[in-house]
Amino acid sequence: MNTISVKASQNYDVIVGKDILSNLGEYLVKFGNNRKAAIISDSHVFPIYGTAVQDSLRQVGISAIHYVFPAGEENKSIDTYTKILNFLAENQVTRSDLIIALGGGVVGDIAGFVAATFLRGISYIQIPTSLLAMVDSSVGGKTAIDLPTGKNLVGAFKQPLLVLCDVNVLSTLPERYFIDGCAEIIKYAMLYDAELFTYLLNQGLNFDREMVISKCISFKANVVNEDEFDTGARQRLNLGHTFGHGIEIRSNFTVSHGNAVAIGMMIVTNAAVHFGICDNMTLRSLRSLLQKFSLPYSTTITAQELYESALSDKKRSGASVNLIIPERIGHCNITPTPVSELESFIEAGL
Ligand code: GLY
Repeated sequence: MNTISVKASQNYDVIVGKDILSNLGEYLVKFGNNRKAAIISDSHVFPIYGTAVQDSLRQVGISAIHYVFPAGEENKSIDTYTKILNFLAENQVTRSDLIIALGGGVVGDIAGFVAATFLRGISYIQIPTSLLAMVDSSVGGKTAIDLPTGKNLVGAFKQPLLVLCDVNVLSTLPERYFIDGCAEIIKYAMLYDAELFTYLLNQGLNFDREMVISKCISFKANVVNEDEFDTGARQRLNLGHTFGHGIEIRSNFTVSHGNAVAIGMMIVTNAAVHFGICDNMTLRSLRSLLQKFSLPYSTTITAQELYESALSDKKRSGASVNLIIPERIGHCNITPTPVSELESFIEAGL
């Protein structure tokens, strides 16, 4: 069991270990057992873990209600958001109660945004059930919903009270979702840790879950401690995401987030080699690692399409877009890139 502390506008722990879900009540009782918990989950996760979570809460005297919406990124919408708000209001949830986000990134993002805005903010706990949510979206307080024009365009920073990562739940995660989460792990290795990169290259999918997940969360915690509101160092976490988001949108989400990030990392690395910023060995190693994890590394989406998507990316600031560009494994730079140079950069990367 590992505990990682996040020091942001609200300090909290991220606990990574086994058998956490079945003992959930014990982790929550320290925040008071006179609270009502509103579990927000989706149609994939709640049927598997809902009963265990409710039983565990009941054992310590926390009463629970739940709202379950259909699984899928397309439901991270204003419509779902409104329905959850109405559900909380109808059930007289108050500021002294608690929201529990039980699920992957979609659940965590929307439940977090509900927690940030319902009654001007109520406490919430993240219980990520996907690898992707464990190593990235459940930590750091970014909450959001999507608009038809782009992902995560409406949101707020709202740190959770606690994040509980039970690695046992990964055993029920379909392999393609597990592999999707591996793209974010590879991202951390590219950003910060050449040793982790080599370890993953040697281990492939058989890596030590608890150790690698804890390592990635520690990287994330450090960067959130330094730059909670994403004005500097935190932007590095967008490695592969600017073009990755474009690939997700242009493919109508048939390319999943992690797969899109994998391709996005290859595009920037390829372009970095083309412009002499990064060596060819780094590119070849990244391609090998993605192959080892059965992740994709190319796309048929055109440079122009990716360029257009990048223009509505949140990371655009006026006439430039901050690209995260690898220099070598374990080291990437934040590079403001003029919009006028973006399309040729993408062309070089495809
Ligand atoms: N997912 C990137 C971040 O939390 O900043």
